[in-house]
Amino acid sequence: MKKVLVAGGSGYLGRHVAKEFEHRGYYVRVLVRNPDKIKEKGEHGEPIIYDLVDDVVTGDATKPETLKGICDDIDIVFSSLGLTKPDFKHSSFDIDYMGNKRILDLALASKVKKFIYISVFNAEKMLEIQNIQAHEQFAGELRKSGLDYTIIRPTGYFSDMIQFLNLANMGIMPILGEGDKRSNPIHAADLAKSASMRSIRKQPISMRVGLMSSPTGRLASLLPGLPEKTRFTSISRYG
Ligand SMILES: NC(=O)c1ccc[n+]([C@@H]2O[C@H](COP(=O)([O-])OP(=O)(O)OC[C@H]3O[C@@H](n4cnc5c(N)ncnc54)[C@H](OP(=O)(O)O)[C@@H]3O)[C@@H](O)[C@H]2O)c1
Repeated sequence: MKKVLVAGGSGYLGRHVAKEFEHRGYYVRVLVRNPDKIKEKGEHGEPIIYDLVDDVVTGDATKPETLKGICDDIDIVFSSLGLTKPDFKHSSFDIDYMGNKRILDLALASKVKKFIYISVFNAEKMLEIQNIQAHEQFAGELRKSGLDYTIIRPTGYFSDMIQFLNLANMGIMPILGEGDKRSNPIHAADLAKSASMRSIRKQPISMRVGLMSSPTGRLASLLPGLPEKTRFTSISRYG
C-alpha cells in the first residue's frame, strides 16, 4: 500500500485531497496544527477526516522540532500548506516558502519518491505579490531538489467566492478591473479528484488547472439572491 502525507490536511483543499487518497486505497497521514479541527466539517463543507485517515500528526511548519518523523515511510508528499489568512506573527515567506522547505528537506532525508505542491494559476504574471513570490520561491526549491515533483497551479477556489456572494447580498458586487477580467473557480473536491490524482499516475512537472472563461461581471449577475440595486465596484488586484 502506498503511503501519502498531506500537509495542510485541515485546510479546504487538503481535506478533500486526504479523503480522495483514502478512497483510492492509500495509507494517509495528515499534518495538522489542531486535530480537533478535522473532527468537524469545515466552514465550506469540507469533510470530517479525523476517523477516515490512518494517522494524524500534530505539527507546526514554523516549529521544526514538531515536524520530526513526518515523512518517515512516506512515498508521496502532497502539500497545500499555506498562509491564506492574515497572521500577525508570520509572513507568506515564513509559511509558504520556509514551512514547505522544511517539509521538502524532511522528504529528501526520508527518501520520499514524489512531492506535489499547490501554487497559483498565472503565478508568473503576479510576481510582485508577496504571497505569489513565496509560492514560486518554494516551487524553485522543489524544481532543483532532484525529487520527482508536480506543481499544480489552480484558479481561485469556490471557498473564496463566498466573499463575493456576501458582499453582493449587501448590495455591493466587487468586479475585477472594468468587469472584463475572467474567472473560473474550482471546487476543492474536483481539484482533489482531477489534477491531484493525475499528477501521481503521470509525471507532469507543471499543471495549470482551470481555464479563464466567464467575466466576473457576468458571474455576478448569475449569483443567487442578488439585490435589485446592486452596486458594482471595481477592485484592484488581489494581494
Ligand atoms: N484560495 C484560492 O483561490 C487559491 C487558488 C490557488 C491556489 N491556492 C493555494 O492553495 C493552497 C491551499 O489553499 P486552501 O484554500 O486549502 O487553504 P486553507 O484552507 O487555508 O489551508 C491551508 C492549510 O495550511 C495549514 N497551515 C497554515 N500554516 C501552517 C503552519 N504554520 N503549520 C502547519 N500547517 C499550517 C492550515 O492549517 P490550519 O487549518 O491549522 O489553519 C491549513 O491546513 C494555498 O497555498 C493557497 O495559496 C489558493
